[in-house]
Amino acid sequence: MKLIIINGPNLNLLGKREPTIYGDSSFESYYENLKSIYPQVELSYFQSNIEGEIINKLHEVGFEYDGIVLNAAAYTHTSVAIGDAIKAIKTPVVEVHISNTHAREEFRHKSFIAKNAKGVILGFGLDSYKLAIQSFL
Ligand code: DQA
Repeated sequence: MKLIIINGPNLNLLGKREPTIYGDSSFESYYENLKSIYPQVELSYFQSNIEGEIINKLHEVGFEYDGIVLNAAAYTHTSVAIGDAIKAIKTPVVEVHISNTHAREEFRHKSFIAKNAKGVILGFGLDSYKLAIQSFL
């Protein structure tokens, strides 16, 4: 099983960024932990702060991989183009968020991804990613 985690803008700062919302662990250390929990999964990771790079990565993996775990971060709430890219590819996408976006500001309640995703997992901290991987197994 070939899965990829794609993280959007500002998620490279996990561990340093608003730790009361996003926790104090870096994504890299969480990712190492995930890889050791699921040795049977061929797992890879991509992060970009640039919308077009996220779209290019979706195109690149979206006809080959078995699943995509996508936290598009703030682009979730703004990007018609990422929503369209998910519609265009074959690989199923699970949308994840670390925080419960529905318990936060109104603008975070809208997602351009959810409608085209296989499912949405949010509000479980970094374990949202683990639950998304489990959903593919
Ligand atoms: C986030 C929620 C988004 O609203 C926010 O812009 C992020 C992170 C989350 O994982 O909780 O950057 O996607």
